[in-house]
Amino acid sequence: MDLTKRPLEHELDPIEIATRDQISAVQTRRMAWSLRHTYENVPHFRARCEAQGVHPDDFRTLDDLPRFPFTTKQHLRETYPFGSFAVPLSEVVRIHASSGTTGKPTVVGYTRADIDLWATVMARSIRAGGGRHHSRIHVSYGYGLFTGGLGAHYGAEKLGATVIPVSGGQTEKQVQLIKDFAPDIIMVTPSYMLVIADAMERHGMDPRDCSLSIGLFGAEPWTDEMRAQLEQRLGIDAIDIYGLSEIIGPGVAQECIETKDGLHIWEDHFYPEIIDPETGAVLPDGHLGELVLTSLTKEAMPVVRYRTRDLTRLMPGTARSMRRMQKITGRSDDMLIIRGVNVFPSQIEELLLRDDRLSPHYQLELRRDRHLVHLTVKAELRPGLHDQSARAGAARDLQHQIKSYIGISSTVEVVGEGTLERSQGKAKRVVDLRDVE
Ligand code: DLL
Repeated sequence: MDLTKRPLEHELDPIEIATRDQISAVQTRRMAWSLRHTYENVPHFRARCEAQGVHPDDFRTLDDLPRFPFTTKQHLRETYPFGSFAVPLSEVVRIHASSGTTGKPTVVGYTRADIDLWATVMARSIRAGGGRHHSRIHVSYGYGLFTGGLGAHYGAEKLGATVIPVSGGQTEKQVQLIKDFAPDIIMVTPSYMLVIADAMERHGMDPRDCSLSIGLFGAEPWTDEMRAQLEQRLGIDAIDIYGLSEIIGPGVAQECIETKDGLHIWEDHFYPEIIDPETGAVLPDGHLGELVLTSLTKEAMPVVRYRTRDLTRLMPGTARSMRRMQKITGRSDDMLIIRGVNVFPSQIEELLLRDDRLSPHYQLELRRDRHLVHLTVKAELRPGLHDQSARAGAARDLQHQIKSYIGISSTVEVVGEGTLERSQGKAKRVVDLRDVE
């Protein structure tokens, strides 16, 4: 039997192509368990339920879920380090943590069964993104407390693929290993992919000639314009993968290579809701709002109605039965308010990437100009373009586009190639100097 030709259907978990009724039945059963498990073992959740006068016995159908309280990052931080665990530490076989920008990290723990569940959903994700057991997968997500590297690693192994655990950084070595080991899939943040592609070019390699055919990109927002650039520049399919440490890590939702139409949420393990971020009211599918997730099967750190701050909308399933979420292009905490106008960095990315004089590396700087906030967009010219008039022209045009499409005045500075800081993981898009000067 030629294993490379094995049809995909045989490798899918039956639940991926189950009916909606079957999915809801699994969710309802698991939700009842998860609410009870969390209530009985996580004191801060029980206290909030009691304050709200709700008990796990009140849960009968999925429509009862909004009666239960939300969990926020703050709740998890207040119980630093292990106070949100629902099992004794002796049952926990792994710890990860997400650093965030301020304060203490959020610590998450996994039992052996949680690690296995994570590997299962990650294997499912990689397969939906086009990976097969015969794939060779180069992992450039960081290994360590960050969930990216080890999450990708265990999933790729579970799928039966060959994993190359490179981690982030050492860009020259990344290029060398891609050349020597000829992987067909890379798992990396989209911003670091660009840095690797630049390094390939510096070494006289055309990124389109490298062995890669698929990139599984996530851990940070990236636009469809960025997708087009990555696909064109590397000759690959650029596929979106989403997740967050508090829920499990990468592998919560995944775009399918055959449709590239948003990310299927693995709803048999992570139950999604969309809420109005101001009022907390649950919104119907199709409406844009904040994604809220409940873990249905996690043992060590179950989370009920976790407010992700990520903005998206839910849509019906296509390539799989489970619902999709629209590509996330912003978090409510990333929203900049500039002279009363709400702006997401992704809106600037969209405009910037349409100009082929500019490279995709950019940064937004906020300063206080007397009492008003002023935005400076820093971008670089494409490698090889040195002429002053291209620089001035690109700056003038982007400034104009930002004014007409987003409605704010800004300053665009087109700086020399290699001037802006490069990320080796999640890109830092916004430099906030408002309270510094
Ligand atoms: O970034 C997990 C991950 C690793 C996902 C590798 C995908 C690939 P955290 O460090 O806890 O976990 O950060 C989670 O990153 O709430 C989003 O704001 C953002 N994020 C993650 N994936 C995407 C994506 C990992 N595909 C936070 N698109 C999340 C947009 C994403 N934002």
